Amino acid sequence: MERTPGRVLVIVPTYNERENLPMITRRLRKALPDVHLLVADDNSPDGTGRIADELAEKDDHVHVLHRTSKQGLGAAYIAGFRWGLAEGYDVLVEMDADGSHQPEELHKLLDAVAHGADLAIGSRWIPGGRTVNWPLSRELLSRGANTYVRLALGIPVADATAGFRAYRAATLEKIGLDDVESQGYCFQVDLTLRTVRKGLHVVEKPITFVERTVGTSKMSRKIILEAFWRVAVWGVTGFADRFRQRR
Ligand code: GDD
Ligand code: MN
Repeated sequence: MERTPGRVLVIVPTYNERENLPMITRRLRKALPDVHLLVADDNSPDGTGRIADELAEKDDHVHVLHRTSKQGLGAAYIAGFRWGLAEGYDVLVEMDADGSHQPEELHKLLDAVAHGADLAIGSRWIPGGRTVNWPLSRELLSRGANTYVRLALGIPVADATAGFRAYRAATLEKIGLDDVESQGYCFQVDLTLRTVRKGLHVVEKPITFVERTVGTSKMSRKIILEAFWRVAVWGVTGFADRFRQRR
């Protein structure tokens, strides 16, 4: 018998994902019919928000959070988490809109939470994990970023930048979201570090990350630079804290 981790909300942040949103909604609803979906749209100029409203009108498992402007992945997820916690969901999932994270693999993460994980990460960089159609430049960037994170922060996570993950609601309540400042993709590292530093149980499950076929990535130089300096700051403050504790 399969254990279920309770009421599940999948949060999908969107910025100009008009072509992808109906596809990912259909796939998620088919793969896991009980799970709810929250689209967190940053007022996409391409009309993604309107498409989300149309999907929500036809399906009581689909919800929409309209945000006023593009404020980054981190801010969109924080708003989505707050919405989901207020609505009483037991598990909050992060998933990209572009099909890179396959809804058909989500059961692996939910299973890990049902079996005791406080955070389950869909990992590209553990045995069994892989990427499909990712340009070599992106693979090197991701591998390099994860090596940098492990060296700077010393956390035992192979894919700390991964964006396909399931949080127990209690995990988000324990780590606290009020002082999270990360805007871009380093938000993922930020919350991983907070979870590890609280002594909570992080589990990685291998996934296949499939590069999008339509639309464009929002990765930018600004996002890379933010990740680079914030990780350095977290590394230094963490080291200083440990040093003070030892004296
Ligand atoms: N609301 C909102 N606001 N959504 C955003 C924003 C934003 O500022 N920036 C990106 N998104 C949404 C996209 O629309 C998409 O659904 C998802 O976030 C991921 O964005 P992509 O632009 O497709 O990311 P990627 O494929 O380059 O990066 C992937 O790898 C990163 C590094 O491992 C993602 O899985 C990231 O989560 C991951 O950190
Ligand atoms: Mn993508």
